Amino acid sequence: MHRVGEHKANTKTASMTNEIAQPSDDNMICPEAGSWTEDKHRVVALYATMFSKGMKAKWDKRVYVELYAGAGYSRIRGTQKMILGSPLQALAVEPPFDKYIFCEAISENLEALKIRVTRYFPTANVAYVEGDCDLRASDILGEIPPGSKDNTVLTLCFADPFDIGLKFGTIKTLSSRLVDFIVLLAVYSDANRAYRRYVMEDAVKVDQFLGSSTWRDRWRIAEADAILFPKFLASEFAASMETLGYLPTPIHKMKRVSSDEKNLPLYYIALFSRNKLALDLWDDALKYGTDQTAFHWD
Ligand SMILES: C[S@@+](CC[C@H](N)C(=O)[O-])C[C@H]1O[C@@H](n2cnc3c(N)ncnc32)[C@H](O)[C@@H]1O
Repeated sequence: MHRVGEHKANTKTASMTNEIAQPSDDNMICPEAGSWTEDKHRVVALYATMFSKGMKAKWDKRVYVELYAGAGYSRIRGTQKMILGSPLQALAVEPPFDKYIFCEAISENLEALKIRVTRYFPTANVAYVEGDCDLRASDILGEIPPGSKDNTVLTLCFADPFDIGLKFGTIKTLSSRLVDFIVLLAVYSDANRAYRRYVMEDAVKVDQFLGSSTWRDRWRIAEADAILFPKFLASEFAASMETLGYLPTPIHKMKRVSSDEKNLPLYYIALFSRNKLALDLWDDALKYGTDQTAFHWD
């Protein structure tokens, strides 16, 4: 085990995870990531801790899923700084989840992730699903214990795509179980830049992202009201989640992440849950994960 320390009880700071050794070069793949990735990780790891801790007494099992798991390490672009990927940060939360499921499309990434997970967490209960999460949604679902009255299961699923390629059908498949979602909505970095392509030419991608082919009618109205395309897409995605029984997630409850260099908005990170308690925890995660104020479990 490479654990090097524990935070003090009741005085945990923003990450609230067990501290694990910082990564160093292990001669395996280490994809580049923007410096804002640490912002994303801070909020997701803090929320995962709050979720795992807050739901422990209420549910027999808590499961953590990542649809776009990565290689376990990444390197901040333009620097030599290596950081732990979100799967390892989720494994380090205290208390840990009962099961972890990681899906990754690129086999070299997945193999590196497996080795790194085993290095830090040799006894963790982890299932790996290789391939496109949209094609493997039923297999991912199959790894989530079905749960029963005597063995209740609650799942947190993090979807961290590079673009708006996540298909809503995948969310729909997984939502047949009790699953809360943290979704990275790449509506600025991808959809805004690719606006012409998506709206004018290849609108299938937006249809699949939203699970709807009627959004163009609403977009015409929104555009006339001077609503920006990224905001429109994020609201439409939240409205699609409501059709699955998720509570409303307005844009001001989403975390907007911007690039460090030019402060250009890149994406929103949004929580979707059917449970008000989860939305309250998310409010805390946004507050304490953003301003780094010490968070106290009382
Ligand atoms: C932004 S990175 C994820 C990084 C990781 N969540 C982290 O923060 O450490 C996105 C990952 O998704 C993988 N990927 C891309 N499309 C995918 C798909 N359709 N299904 C599963 N994984 C995919 C990429 O290979 C890449 O490793």
